[in-house]
Amino acid sequence: MLNPQLNANGKLNHLLSTESLPREVMTHILDTASSFLEVSDRDVKKVPLLRGKSVFNLFFENSTRTRTTFEIAAKRLSADVINLDVGRSSTAKGETLLDTIDNLVAMHADMFVVRHASSGAPHLIAEHLRRIGREDVHVVNAGDGRHAHPTQGLLDMYTIRHFKRDFSGLKVAIVGDILHSRVARSDIFALATLETGEVRAVGPQTLLPSAIGRMGVRVFNDLREGIRDCDVVIMLRLQNERMNGALLPSAGEYFNCYGLTPEILALARPDAIVMHPGPMNRGVEIDSLVADGRQAVILSQVTFGIAVRMAVMSILAGN
Ligand code: CP
Repeated sequence: MLNPQLNANGKLNHLLSTESLPREVMTHILDTASSFLEVSDRDVKKVPLLRGKSVFNLFFENSTRTRTTFEIAAKRLSADVINLDVGRSSTAKGETLLDTIDNLVAMHADMFVVRHASSGAPHLIAEHLRRIGREDVHVVNAGDGRHAHPTQGLLDMYTIRHFKRDFSGLKVAIVGDILHSRVARSDIFALATLETGEVRAVGPQTLLPSAIGRMGVRVFNDLREGIRDCDVVIMLRLQNERMNGALLPSAGEYFNCYGLTPEILALARPDAIVMHPGPMNRGVEIDSLVADGRQAVILSQVTFGIAVRMAVMSILAGN
């Protein structure tokens, strides 16, 4: 089967998932992001790589980091950025997603950045563009349901590479609500592609996918065992908005069993880094002493996210 992310020449045409992203494409994105990092430190924070291009941000679900950093990234590449106000758009009057897309294509859109509560929505748009012969219009998945959040996965890989250099000897623990987490899935696929030494999934059985054992990770239900000797600890939020019914007794009890405190973090390697995709729920999955502590690189993730998103858009645009 053809990879829907690549064009006939094997070049990246859409970014939908880290699952089928070839290693050389992933590495190329990370290397390109490195070259963009310094653009943010210039007096004039702009390069002309997307000059004359129109990037449409279509966020059908809430976002702080992803929406804003995509907008900043597109502006730093000199694109024209249009943020569709979904709440005031004709979606509320019953217009379908694909009719909305057709109308925005008619307005000469060059790229769609899409967040949607339904898994597969960005894939559906990419397939629609192929069917109408508009493969020159690119789609970036900014998070779809519990399926994928590839730019978060890539910026997480960038962060790990920045602080730890080589993936082969690393132990990485992903902790929390893995069942509902598109970030966890994107991280697990990316870490596998980059041949990470050991990837651990840590959480209560009710918050782990039943097929987790087939994803090439070691599974731990005990937090202390799960993060022992780890180099990287990625904490996840409880995704209450995706839970159908109570999977946990209470947030307080969850914190007692799975909250990352300084005492528990001391079981990881002394130079371990703590990551979190945000938004954080302090006192639920992470103690403020850890979130604001010397090992946390959570705000670096946000900064790197701009460079990674610049790299993705620049490569999609053919640079
Ligand atoms: N990490 C992340 O996706 O955050 P937002 O929901 O704020 O975009």
